[in-house]
Amino acid sequence: MPIRPSLPPPDPASPPSLISWHRQRVKKYFGSAVDNSELSDQQLLKFLTNKNEFGQITPGNGQKWQYTEPSRGQFSYGSGDQITDFAKKNGQMLRCHTLVWHSQLPSWVSNGQWSRDTLTSVINTHIANEVGHYKGQCYAWDVVNDIYITEALDDDGSYRQSVFSEVLGDTFFAIAFDAAAKADPNAKLYYNDYNLETLGAKQQGAAKIVKLIKSAGKKIDGVGMQAHLIVGQSPSQSTLKSVMQSYLDAGATEVAFTELDIRFPSLPESSQGLEQQAKDFGAVTSACLEVEGCVGITIWGFTDAHSWIPGTFPGTGDALLFDKNYNKKPAYSTVSSILAAARTAAPAPGATTLQRSTVVTSAPAATTTAAGCSVAMYGQCSGQGYSGCTACAGGSACKVSNDWYSQCL
Ligand code: G3I
Repeated sequence: MPIRPSLPPPDPASPPSLISWHRQRVKKYFGSAVDNSELSDQQLLKFLTNKNEFGQITPGNGQKWQYTEPSRGQFSYGSGDQITDFAKKNGQMLRCHTLVWHSQLPSWVSNGQWSRDTLTSVINTHIANEVGHYKGQCYAWDVVNDIYITEALDDDGSYRQSVFSEVLGDTFFAIAFDAAAKADPNAKLYYNDYNLETLGAKQQGAAKIVKLIKSAGKKIDGVGMQAHLIVGQSPSQSTLKSVMQSYLDAGATEVAFTELDIRFPSLPESSQGLEQQAKDFGAVTSACLEVEGCVGITIWGFTDAHSWIPGTFPGTGDALLFDKNYNKKPAYSTVSSILAAARTAAPAPGATTLQRSTVVTSAPAATTTAAGCSVAMYGQCSGQGYSGCTACAGGSACKVSNDWYSQCL
């Protein structure tokens, strides 16, 4: 399957949507994760099969070790293939997830009595087989996942205890990245972790990992910031940009937001909370837009009807762009408007990224009606390159979210 399906040119008149960025040559993708069990939800399918909304798919679980090699040497790709076939059928790019992770690891690996040599061989066999099975289909692989501990008092960048670090120390990075590069030389190889979105010990540790792998002479392309964030506590756009730059400076050639969701710390949320969530999603979107090496954003599910969060953090959630009934939330309006503005400003086909200085040379004309022109609540009312209506309807006021985007709130 081609990694980047050939698509018709963008239609500037199309209604607001998440607009897969690769269609506009702005970024490579805007996508979503999906779990196997969710594919029986017909309402979900209506949205997720639309590549104008989601140009990229990540299997939420099906490619993890627990499913792909449940017993030693017994490989099973039914769950993974169900999702990759889904993406293929819809012309969506794939991020593949994940190879070496302490979680969802079968007990024969986590409880095995391994020497350095035997565990190295187990990792090599697993990666050669799985990455080989999906060769040519994955834009990127999350090769190593969640390697640092992050409990509040221990968020010091030390390695998580796992069979991999216990037996192999930090050499398992080079082993895993080497095996993945050999099995699919064209896939982008990522180190993917959470709490990598702020400056500090863990971010410095991640930058060190990039250097460590490169100094071992192995290929690593990207750092994946999972971005499981909290409403009102999310990093600012400028922090996000500095963090991304630190990974690029360390030698990564690209970065991505790989599992974005922004949860409410308590429920139900207020309407002000929904506005804050929209701003927080907007900061991530704009930050990615402004850093050339940021290739795309994947949200970890798109509807509050399906999310890992309530099961893991009871009492919190509603972290996604659509609510449980598949209504679009304010955050959807913010993200889609930012993407639409970027689309308007996109360079000619052939260019691959949007430079900040090239932004918005031609903007849509303002809509004028007999009664003048006004923007409904949550609509865009200003921003670099925007030339639409600036008056807000219904008592809302035009508030600046960032350089790109002001919104009627
Ligand atoms: O497959 C079984 C099913 O047979 C059983 O009936 C059901 C009953 O609970 O459980 C199913 O397994 C669940 C699995 O997801 C598949 O749906 C597990 O209980 C559940 O714990 C597991 O959760 C996944 C979680 O990773 C595991 O740590 C989430 O769906 C998945 O979204 C989440 O994703 C991770 C990323 O891979 C890495 N970064 C963090 C992120 C969020 O935790």
